Amino acid sequence: MLGNEQDALLAGALNRARTVERVGKVAEAYGTLIRATGLKAAIGELCELRNPPHEGPADFHLAAEVVGVSRQHTLLTPLGALDGVSATTEVYATGRQATVLAGDGLLGRVLDAHGNPIDGLGPISGGVPAPIYASSPNPLSRKLIDRPFSTGVRAIDSVMSVGEGQRLGIFAVAGGGKSTLLGMLARGGDADVNIIALVGERGREVNEFILDNLGAEGLARSVVIVATSDRPALERSRAAWVATAIAEHFRDRGQRVLLLLDSVTRFARALRDVGLAVGEPPARRGYPPSVFSALPGLFERAGNNDKGSITAFYTVLMEDEDGSDPIAEEVRSILDGHVVLSRKLAAAYHYPAIDVLGSLSRTMPRVVDRTHQHAAGQLRKYLAKYQDIELLLQLGEYQRGTDPEADIAIDRIEPIRRLLQQPATELVPFERSADALRRLFP
Ligand SMILES: Nc1ncnc2c1ncn2[C@@H]1O[C@H](COP(=O)(O)OP(=O)(O)O)[C@@H](O)[C@H]1O
Ligand SMILES: [Mg+2]
Repeated sequence: MLGNEQDALLAGALNRARTVERVGKVAEAYGTLIRATGLKAAIGELCELRNPPHEGPADFHLAAEVVGVSRQHTLLTPLGALDGVSATTEVYATGRQATVLAGDGLLGRVLDAHGNPIDGLGPISGGVPAPIYASSPNPLSRKLIDRPFSTGVRAIDSVMSVGEGQRLGIFAVAGGGKSTLLGMLARGGDADVNIIALVGERGREVNEFILDNLGAEGLARSVVIVATSDRPALERSRAAWVATAIAEHFRDRGQRVLLLLDSVTRFARALRDVGLAVGEPPARRGYPPSVFSALPGLFERAGNNDKGSITAFYTVLMEDEDGSDPIAEEVRSILDGHVVLSRKLAAAYHYPAIDVLGSLSRTMPRVVDRTHQHAAGQLRKYLAKYQDIELLLQLGEYQRGTDPEADIAIDRIEPIRRLLQQPATELVPFERSADALRRLFP
C-alpha cells in the first residue's frame, strides 16, 4: 500500500519536474493565433492545450502547432476551434512533430491545409503520417539529375528541357496564362503523381483551375491542397509545407512526383504576416528575415533523393515585368531554372506565352544530347536576331541581304513560332518535341 503511494508521489513529482520547462500558459488567443508564454517548444512541434483542474471546462482539449518563436513568446496555430481557451489554459509541448496522413487514398482528392478533404467526397482512408516540416535529403544521397522530365509542353521540352528532379520558377504577370500552363503540366507531365498546392487564390479561381485546367483526367492522378486568400496566413503557409510533405511521401516510395506550387509569392506573403505577428523586424521590402530562410528550406525538400524524384514548379507573381521584387529575385537565385510568361506574347495570342529568351533551364545540358542542345542554341540565336531587327522590319527599313544571319532569322521565324505555340489541349511527349526542334535546326 505504502509502496504504491510512494510510486504515485514519485510519478507526480517527476511529472511536475518535467513540466517545468515543457508547459506554458496562454497569454493571448484570438482568431486563429495563440500566443503562449513560458513554453519551450520548437517550430513544427505539436502541443496540447488543457485547462488546469477546476478552471474552465474540464474536458477541454485542443491540439496546436508551433509556428513561430521569439524570446518571450511561442506562437501556435490551433488545429480546432478556440472555444474553451482562457488565460489559465496550459500549453503542453508533446515532443511530436506535426504530420499529415499521406497515401494512395489522397489521389483525386482536394484537401485543406490540415489535410482534411474539402471536396465533399467523404473521409480519406488509410495513409501514413508524413512530417510537415521535414528536413531536406542529404545532398550526397541525392541521385544526380541525368534524364529529362517530359512536361508535355513543346516550348519547354525543346528549348528549356527540364531534368527529372529539377526545381524551376514560373514567373508570370496576372493573366499571363499561369493556370493554363500548370494544368498542361499536370495533364501532360510524365509523373506518377501530381501534388498541387494552391495558396492564396480566390475560391472562384481554385474552382476554375480544378474544373477547367486540371480536368477530371488530371485530377485523377493529382492531390490538390488548397488555402484560399480568405484563410488565415498560417493556413496559407502551411498548405505549401503539407503539399511538400505529401510529395515526399510518394518520392520515398520510389515514384516520380510533379509538385506544383501556385504561388510562392503568396506563400511568402503569408510567412511575412506570421513573422511580423511574432514581432520579427521587417528586413527587405517589409519581408522579415525568416521568409528568406524558409524559401530555400522549402525548395531544398524537392528534387531527387536516393529513391524517387520531385520535379517542382513554383509560380512567382510579377507586378511588373522587370521582376524587381525581393521574392522574385530570391526565387530566381535559388532555383535551377525559370520559365517567364510574357504579357506581350499573351496579348499577341502567342500561347503558351513563354518568353524563351528570358527563360532558362540550368540542368538542360545534363539531360539532352548534343544535337538537341545545338538545335536549341540555334533557335535562341535566330530568335534573338529576329528581335533585334523586328523594329526595322516593321518600319520597312531592313533590306534583305544586309545581314545573312538576319535573313535566316526572317525565314525561320514562322516555323519557330509554330514550334513554340501549342493549344492547351494538345500535349506532346518529350521526344516528339525534341525531334521537331532537330528538324528545324539540323
Ligand atoms: N495555352 C493557351 N491557349 C489558349 N489560350 C490561353 C492559353 N493560356 C492562356 N490562355 C488565355 O489566357 C487567359 C488567362 O489564362 P490563365 O491561365 O487563367 O492566366 P492566369 O492564371 O495567369 O491568370 C485564359 O482565359 C485564356 O483565354
Ligand atoms: Mg490563374
